[in-house]
Amino acid sequence: MAILLPGGAGYIGSHTAVELLNSGKDIVIIDNFSNSKPEVLESIKKITGKDFKFYEIDYLDKEKLEKVFEENKIEAVLNFAGFKAVGESVQKPLEYYHNNISGCLVLLETMKKYGVKKFIFSSSATVYGDPEIIPITEECKTGGTTNPYGTTKLFIEQILKDLYKSDNTWDICILRYFNPVGAHESGLIGEEPKGIPNNLMPYVARVAAGILPELSVFGNDYNTPDGTGVRDYIHVVDLAKGHVLALDKLDKEGKGLFIYNLGTGVGYSVLDMVKAFEKATGKEVKYKIAPRRAGDIATCYADPKKAKEELGWTAEKTLEDMCKDSWNYIVKNS
Ligand code: WQD
Repeated sequence: MAILLPGGAGYIGSHTAVELLNSGKDIVIIDNFSNSKPEVLESIKKITGKDFKFYEIDYLDKEKLEKVFEENKIEAVLNFAGFKAVGESVQKPLEYYHNNISGCLVLLETMKKYGVKKFIFSSSATVYGDPEIIPITEECKTGGTTNPYGTTKLFIEQILKDLYKSDNTWDICILRYFNPVGAHESGLIGEEPKGIPNNLMPYVARVAAGILPELSVFGNDYNTPDGTGVRDYIHVVDLAKGHVLALDKLDKEGKGLFIYNLGTGVGYSVLDMVKAFEKATGKEVKYKIAPRRAGDIATCYADPKKAKEELGWTAEKTLEDMCKDSWNYIVKNS
């Protein structure tokens, strides 16, 4: 029996593939390399010393996807095949709705056809919109997303809730990621944003490396301790381990639709991140204060209590680990 990972060559998918293989699971990866590279597959094998099956296909291609289910005994699916760039989603809403939502529907229909009903979905803290209370619990209201990327996550969550209501033999786990950063400590896999990064950490790393001249800090007049935006940055390896524990829960207890925040519960400001990166790497990160970025909120961090109590999961890596591992990856790969 194997776990299917659509998008398993991507940033979160590849780190989760490593943790699944390390925990003794068999995996099958499908990816069309639209936002990843084939070399990642070799890196996963190198890190784990384990082999796995791979298919270069688009998860929207129903015929080819069905073949994967025919050729393998799939027991669960972890879907990492979503597009994830907020800015790009505003420019290309149809592409985002098509890839993220239609793709997920094709996947769920195929799972249904082959009697596979264990599904873990990569959602995002973005579904909380401008949160009502901080720290954010899973019970907080969702909605009010400000871009198509976030709306695809919200819609898919609703689709999964409706699916479960129609047939409660599905076992579904929705994981709401906060701000994933860092890379595997080997430096073999990490995040490879297309073009100039939008997210803070890859931008900071490129300024420190001299690839980009300076960071624009988007606003210093928020209602936060130093005026800059506060977020819950979580090491991608901790996040990946959360998937293994979520799968364990579905395997052992099953029968339900579960939702968990995956965050550290600690918020850091943009300037905290700049200082931590400088300290961890010994490199200067030049920055200037710029106007606020449209759609940004002041503060967003998780209450991770539910994941601790029900999955036995807590983030273990420190902010220093996040900075060091991001830096190690960029040094080894540029
Ligand atoms: C963090 C903070 C910025 C860049 C987004 C998505 C979310 C998830 C993660 C995943 C904010 C500030 C940033 C820069 C800055 N998506 N910043 N200068 O916006 O919290 O979340 O990414 O794939 O769904 O919404 O993350 O890293 O873009 O920003 O000052 O050049 O850094 O204003 O306060 P965000 P981010």
